[in-house]
Amino acid sequence: MTSEAERLTLVLVGPMAAGKTSVGRRVARRLKVPFIDTDKRVVAAHGPIPTIFAEFGEDRFRELEREAVAAALGEGGVVSLGGGAVTDAGTRDLLREHPVVFLTVTPEAVAERIAGGGRPLLDGEDPLGRWTRILEERRRWYEEVASTTFDTSRRPMHRIAEEIAAWRREQA
Ligand code: S3P
Repeated sequence: MTSEAERLTLVLVGPMAAGKTSVGRRVARRLKVPFIDTDKRVVAAHGPIPTIFAEFGEDRFRELEREAVAAALGEGGVVSLGGGAVTDAGTRDLLREHPVVFLTVTPEAVAERIAGGGRPLLDGEDPLGRWTRILEERRRWYEEVASTTFDTSRRPMHRIAEEIAAWRREQA
């Protein structure tokens, strides 16, 4: 990894559709470091997430995700995790040494963003109800790993990205 990527590495966590990928990409551009989306890494290596869940189960997905997180942190840069990565104790351990940004979002703001599908845990009736319940189950883990929190509900993603990049530079 380049020393700059190492020096400015940061991790984004938060519920599904909190904006981890859109914000993460922009933060990476501002910090001039690589951007890594661990979901994309898992898909590239093992195929679509809904298929992994259906064929091998969520536990197997969490293992593959943990491997992707470990590899990404070894490379350095801005690393965006899937919403449920923090449910895995091994993944939470990997995060301990790194600055972690918890992206929050209100149910009102997320309603439209989750309409697209492709997220097995939201399949079925009342996706927003499911999203809210899942967030409440996971909140303590997000808070456990987080170094700081930014809300993405109301402001443009580029503005949030600017603030996160400034925060990270202050820590470096
Ligand atoms: C999941 C979130 C998804 C993806 C998978 C499981 C979760 O990522 O990792 O569908 O358990 O919250 P996003 O947070 O990018 O939607």
